[in-house]
Amino acid sequence: MQTIVLSLGGSLVNPGTPDLQYVSSLVRLLRSTKYRFGIVVGGGKLARIWADAMRKKGASEFEADEVAIKATKKNAQIVADIIKKDVNRKVCDSFDSAREQAKKHRFVVMGGTIPGITTDSDAVLLAECLGAKRVLNLSNIDGIYSDNPVRNHNAKKFRRMSYAQLIDLAGKNDMRKAGTHFVFDFLACKLVARSKIEAHFVHGKNLLDVRKAIEGRQHGGTVVK
Ligand code: UTP
Repeated sequence: MQTIVLSLGGSLVNPGTPDLQYVSSLVRLLRSTKYRFGIVVGGGKLARIWADAMRKKGASEFEADEVAIKATKKNAQIVADIIKKDVNRKVCDSFDSAREQAKKHRFVVMGGTIPGITTDSDAVLLAECLGAKRVLNLSNIDGIYSDNPVRNHNAKKFRRMSYAQLIDLAGKNDMRKAGTHFVFDFLACKLVARSKIEAHFVHGKNLLDVRKAIEGRQHGGTVVK
């Protein structure tokens, strides 16, 4: 059974209060496929609020990241609890532990790991660690655009991109601040490129596209390979 890794946006799992209905329907979809899954859950709004509160108290970026990581783990635990069967009961704190849990379970769930990166990078590292050839980035955006599609209505969606194009675009958007938004973390882009991991960017709520991406079929989002 092949392994697929999901970078699951915290804003999908917990837009303010946990969206249990969404997570349950995603989990039903995952179970209905023939794959094993590594799932890395983001911090979303919770991470941003917690990190900002820390900064206001004079904390360093390192400390803001540490707190944001706690938010990712909280969201990850929600996902693990909903999966319930054939999954690690407590979210993994390290890739070593994820590797061990993956030997025992079909689903492995984790949040963030170390300050300075985001769960996008954690997801690609997990893919490398588990030997997964495909990573899915599930977020509130239905693909990668040439510019922010909310601010710029002329922004164009890429259907397919090379690793070099992805790295170029991410480099222009990377601000390295806890709880801020990137297209895909710059480091994550470099990591998919070095291991030639296929990266699919789809709207997490478009479950038809999510299924197609899992199966490596064409979908409405962006494929990087
Ligand atoms: P996310 O990966 O959730 O960032 O991590 P995000 O881009 O805001 O993603 P969404 O909104 O969930 O889609 C949240 C923050 O947690 C810290 C970083 O500060 C990051 O911005 N973090 C996360 C780390 O420092 N290390 C990690 O391994 C993961």
